[in-house]
Amino acid sequence: MDLLHITSIRPGAEGFNKNAPNYQNVDEAKATTYTSLPDPLVFNNGKPVKSARDWNNRRKELFEDFDREIYGRTPKQKIAVKWEVTGTTEEKLGDVPVVKKSLVGHVDNSSYPSIKVDIQMNLTMPKGAKGKMPVILEFGFGGNFPQRPNTNPNAPRPKSWQQQVVEKGWAAAVIVPTSYQADNGGGLADGIIGLANKGEPRKVDDWGTLKAWGWGASRAIDYFATEASLDPKQVAIEGISRYGKAALVAMAYEPRMAMAFVGSSGAGGAKLHRRDFGEKVENLAGSGEYHWMAGNYIKYAGPLTANDMPVDSHELIALCAPRPVFVGCGSPNVEGTWVDDRGMFLATLYATPVYELLGKRGLKVKEMPPEGTGDTDGDLAFRQHTGGHTNEPNWPSFLEFASRYFKVR
Ligand code: GCU
Repeated sequence: MDLLHITSIRPGAEGFNKNAPNYQNVDEAKATTYTSLPDPLVFNNGKPVKSARDWNNRRKELFEDFDREIYGRTPKQKIAVKWEVTGTTEEKLGDVPVVKKSLVGHVDNSSYPSIKVDIQMNLTMPKGAKGKMPVILEFGFGGNFPQRPNTNPNAPRPKSWQQQVVEKGWAAAVIVPTSYQADNGGGLADGIIGLANKGEPRKVDDWGTLKAWGWGASRAIDYFATEASLDPKQVAIEGISRYGKAALVAMAYEPRMAMAFVGSSGAGGAKLHRRDFGEKVENLAGSGEYHWMAGNYIKYAGPLTANDMPVDSHELIALCAPRPVFVGCGSPNVEGTWVDDRGMFLATLYATPVYELLGKRGLKVKEMPPEGTGDTDGDLAFRQHTGGHTNEPNWPSFLEFASRYFKVR
């Protein structure tokens, strides 16, 4: 805050206590704090973006704004990672014989040996593939494939996503983001961000944790390229909640990422920053979450507001174009209102013109599809399942979507 020359920020919304004066807004009539949104198809100088070639130049402007103000700049220097297979087992996932590998990515720390960073990942590959397999990569919570259960007690428990993936003949991988960048502000002088900065604090436009987590996903693609049975050109990234945010950031910034499944990503993810519904910019800028973002982001919680941002989340989704993106969430009645389902839908809708400019299909609908259904026939998909804060119920729809693009080759 000293570097930003500010002494205080506005408090965030309260997510739990309904009687609190700052309880999250859940009134749609009060959610739209903006009179206009930045237009991805207008250059900063006001000229229209008319062609794919124009879009290539416009992307550079958008990346610059997202880098400087929102997520921070990933360091330009290449940081080498040496992948080691630390364990291999053969087992069955459902009826599918698989090979499971535990992997550690040792990050080159010769520039600052007192910070040691190791990336944890595991990979499950069906045996006997008849070609190079697509890989679905999850930002995972660590351990042996835990997943957030569906909080709707009446919902049937489906197969694990990994089982659904290997049954298609594809590989499933889980990378543990907190193994290389801690999920708190105190960790910013450590992990990959600390290593790149040689233990010094961040500058106001240095990368935040979401970007750092995305960096790890890129290193995972490097590894996949060394596995004879995997196709590094067919890698999809998936995550829920803070890892849904990271999945969208990884997809937007890493051109080798072929597809994304962005689940309940909310504020800092697919939700429009300018909407006041559920979680707000002020929460992201607060002490529990500021580390996800660039330092510069904090100033939009005081004196500036979300309406002063040069960009908004529909433009982050647009930066993924023309590659396929599936945006998902649960039901507000089960998941709660914090993620702002409509804010994520609107951002997906407003990214549609960019997909169309590039000859792709965005959303077909103009209104939010009813819960339990989606608009998933285009290259940009939105689906709201009827469960809680989990991707679980959306996996079959996502894999159907993914099957239109990914094949064992
Ligand atoms: C908090 C946070 C959200 C985040 C979520 C999660 O609720 O405010 O932004 O998405 O945690 O990761 O589960």
